[in-house]
Amino acid sequence: MSAGAYLKLLGHYLRPHKPRVALLAVFIFGYIGVRLSFPQIGRFFIDTARADGPLDSLMWAAGFYLIAGIGRQFFFLGSSYLGQDVGWRTTNRMRGELSEHCLRLDMGFHSAHTPGELVERVDGDTTALSNFFSAFAAHVIGACLLLIGVLVFVWREDWRIGLALSLFALVAFMAINLTRSIAVPIYAAEREGFSRLYGFLEERLAGIEDIRVNGAVGFILDRFFRVNRDAYGRVMKSAVMGAILRSITTILFAFGHAMAMAMGYWLYVQGEFTIGTVYLVFEYTTLLRFPLFQLSEQINDLQRATAGFKRIEALHRIESRVLDGDGRISPGPLAVAFENVDFDYFPGSPVLRDVSFRLEEGQTLGLLGRTGSGKTTLIRLLFRFYDVHEGGQIRLGGEALTDVTLNSLRQRVGMVTQDVQIFRATVRENLSLFDEQVEDDHILAAIDALDLSDWYDTLPNGLDSTIAAGGLSAGESQLLAFARVFLKDPGLVILDEPSSRLDPLTERRIERAVNELLRGRTAIVIAHHLATVQRVDDIMILDEGRILEHGRRETLAQDPTSEFARLLRVGLEDHTA
Ligand SMILES: Nc1ncnc2c1ncn2[C@@H]1O[C@H](COP(=O)(O)OP(=O)(O)OP(=O)(O)O)[C@@H](O)[C@H]1O
Ligand SMILES: [Mg+2]
Repeated sequence: MSAGAYLKLLGHYLRPHKPRVALLAVFIFGYIGVRLSFPQIGRFFIDTARADGPLDSLMWAAGFYLIAGIGRQFFFLGSSYLGQDVGWRTTNRMRGELSEHCLRLDMGFHSAHTPGELVERVDGDTTALSNFFSAFAAHVIGACLLLIGVLVFVWREDWRIGLALSLFALVAFMAINLTRSIAVPIYAAEREGFSRLYGFLEERLAGIEDIRVNGAVGFILDRFFRVNRDAYGRVMKSAVMGAILRSITTILFAFGHAMAMAMGYWLYVQGEFTIGTVYLVFEYTTLLRFPLFQLSEQINDLQRATAGFKRIEALHRIESRVLDGDGRISPGPLAVAFENVDFDYFPGSPVLRDVSFRLEEGQTLGLLGRTGSGKTTLIRLLFRFYDVHEGGQIRLGGEALTDVTLNSLRQRVGMVTQDVQIFRATVRENLSLFDEQVEDDHILAAIDALDLSDWYDTLPNGLDSTIAAGGLSAGESQLLAFARVFLKDPGLVILDEPSSRLDPLTERRIERAVNELLRGRTAIVIAHHLATVQRVDDIMILDEGRILEHGRRETLAQDPTSEFARLLRVGLEDHTA
C-alpha cells in the first residue's frame, strides 16, 4: 500500500473524530515533553547541591520533579484513554460496515465461509487495524521526536558522546527489530494454538449430547489433552523466547549504560562535564529504550494492519449475486408463479429443472418428493437466497422477485423451517425477533390465536421469561415459530414440516395452529404427514428436480393411476422418509 492510500484511509475514518485525535496528539506530545525534562531537572538538582547552591533552588527543583511526575502520569492516562477511544470508535464503524456487508451477501457466500472465518475477518482484522487508527501517526511522530530530542540534548553537551549515543541508538534499533522478527512468528504460533484449542472446545461442546449418547467422552478427552499439550508447548516456547529476547535488549542497554558512564567519567575527569551532566547523559541513555521499542512496534503493527486491511478490502469487493430490486409486494394473500425455473448450486449438477407452476392466492400447495428432490431448494429460491438461472423467473403477487426489494419480500413471506432456531433470550424477544416496535398486546394475541395460552400460563415471568438455548421440545419450538410468522402477518406462508413424529397432543395443537396460520393466506407446505396433506388444495410431486405430478388434490386422489394416489396407498411417511 502506498503512503497516499494510508493517508486516505486514515482521513476517511478519523475525520469524524478530529477533536479527539487532536487532543490525543496533545497528550502524547505532552508526555514526551515531560519525559525529556526529567534528566534536566535531575542535573540541575545534583549540580546545585554539589556547588552548595541555595536551598530554595533545590526545593524548587524537587517541586518541579514532583509536578513533572504527576504530569507524566496525567498525560499517560489521558493518551491511553483517548488512544483506546479513538481506536474503538473508528474500528467499530468498520466492524459495523463489514457486518452489514456480510449480512447482505447471498447464501452461496455464506455456505462457502464458516462463521468462525467471518468472525476473524470482521473482528480480528479490524482489531489489528485498531492501533493503526488510534495512535499510529501520533506514536511514530512522538517516538521520533523523543528520539531526536534525546540525541539533540546529548549532542549539545558534547559531540563525542552525542555521536556515540547516536551510533548506539542505531545498533539498538536494528537489534530490537531483529529480535522482534524472530519473536513475531513464535507469538503467532501461540495464538494459533489457542485458536485451535478454542475451536476444538467450541465444536465439541456444541455436540455434547451426541458425544455423551455415543459414549465418546473418553476419546474426546484424549483428543482434548493432545490439543491442549500442543498449546502448552507453544505457550512455553513463546514465554521463554519472549524472556530471552527481552534479556538480549536489556544486556544491550547495559552496554549502552556502561559506555555512557565511561565516557561521562572521562569527560568529568577532563573537567568538561559536571556530575549532573554525567547523570543527565546516563538518564537519556535509559530514555532511548522507549522510542526505539515504540518505533519497532509501530512498524510491526503497520505490517499487521496492512495485511488486515487488504483482507477487509477483498471482503468488501465481494458483491452479492442477489441484487436488490426497488418495487414492493402488494398486501394480502399472494399468488405464486414459477416460470421455467432452472437452478443448480454447482454448475453441472442441476437441482431444479424447468419447473413451472402456478399457485392461486389463498390456496395451499402440498409439496412432496423424495429426500434430495429439491423441495427445500425451491423454497430458498422463493426467498431469493439464490437467484434462478437466466431465462427463468419467479413471480409473487404478479411481481418478478428480482424487481422487488429483498426487505419487502422477506416481510411478506413467512417460513417455518424443520430446524427452528430458538435464541437464549426472553419469550418476547424470541417471538418478535428482537423488534422492539412489536407491542405486547400483539404478541399475546398471536399466542391466543394459535392456542398457546396454556403453554404461556406455565411461564414464570410471562413474556419476560427466558428461554434457554435448546430448552424447548421440537413441538414447542415449532409452535413458537408459528407465532413468529403469525406476528409478521405475511401473504405467503411456507412450512417445512418436520418428519419426526410428535406426541398426539402436540400434533393436534400444531394442527390447530397451522389452520389458524394458513387462514386467508397462500401457503406452501412440505408435508411429511398424511394429516397435513389432507388439508391442502393442490399437490405437487418433485422428482430429481422435475415436476412429476401437479394438480388438485381431490382430482389426483381419485385418479388411481396418479402417483399421488399410489403414495396414499403405500403410505406417505414411508415414501418421503
Ligand atoms: N447449500 C447447498 N449447496 C450445495 N448443494 C446443495 C445445497 N443444498 C442442497 N443441495 C443439494 O441439492 C439437492 C436438493 O436438495 P434439497 O435440500 O432441496 O432437497 P429436499 O427435497 O429438501 O430434501 P429433504 O426431503 O431431505 O429435505 C440435493 O442433491 C442436495 O445435496
Ligand atoms: Mg428439505
